[in-house]
Amino acid sequence: METYIQAGPEAVSRQFADWLQQHISPRKPFHWALSGGSTPKLLFQLLAGEYASQLPWADIHFWWGDERCVPPDDPDSNFGMTAERLLDHVPVPARNIHRVLGEAAPGQEAQRYANELLAHLPLHQQRPVFDLVMLGMGEDGHTASIFPDQMDLLTSDLICAVATHPASGQKRISLTGKVINEAKNVAFLVTGASKHPKIKAIFEETATAQTFPAAHIQPRGNLFWFLDQAAAQG
Ligand code: 6PG
Repeated sequence: METYIQAGPEAVSRQFADWLQQHISPRKPFHWALSGGSTPKLLFQLLAGEYASQLPWADIHFWWGDERCVPPDDPDSNFGMTAERLLDHVPVPARNIHRVLGEAAPGQEAQRYANELLAHLPLHQQRPVFDLVMLGMGEDGHTASIFPDQMDLLTSDLICAVATHPASGQKRISLTGKVINEAKNVAFLVTGASKHPKIKAIFEETATAQTFPAAHIQPRGNLFWFLDQAAAQG
């Protein structure tokens, strides 16, 4: 596990963009599961701007670690946010963009997406192996759409599952913990003081941390934490 701490969100995004540049080798497919929410917005804008000429876009396949069950033009859509800030501005072939169909029936879409993953990614123990799973962490310690009241998604043998946001009731499609943990690289991007309590508990390996889904992400491959000082205090 490697932890990088930068002064603020911009520097965290820049450090992760530099990491990407060093870890994406050209002329071979790079399967990358994106996180959603607000943290990645800065990163996507940076990649679409300063780094647009630095990455082999035709080799990168974009997937989502989780998606809200809403149409792509809904403000809540992780795909919609990513298209607006990144995908509409860089030369990624359309065939490399594998969005979750948020507008579809959740149960059917979870199965369809799992089949698409099985058809495109290398497998280990019948599970798709990502080159990179990028994750955020909620203030409640959730990651992807694995929430503290749905910890069974960490050990489910499904590849994708339908999750329910505990506060809003919104349906989500999420990769399960076992698939995330098959990845060659998992990178958390976590910034802001509101995340500090959970980060502290996870890094101190407290008993309470075991109730946070993010604490159960221990990939076969490499685990990276990209944090800012507000999230990592002390
Ligand atoms: C989502 C994300 C989710 C996110 C965390 C942190 O669909 O919302 O995938 O897991 O990473 O909720 O969100 P923020 O970056 O907005 O704090």
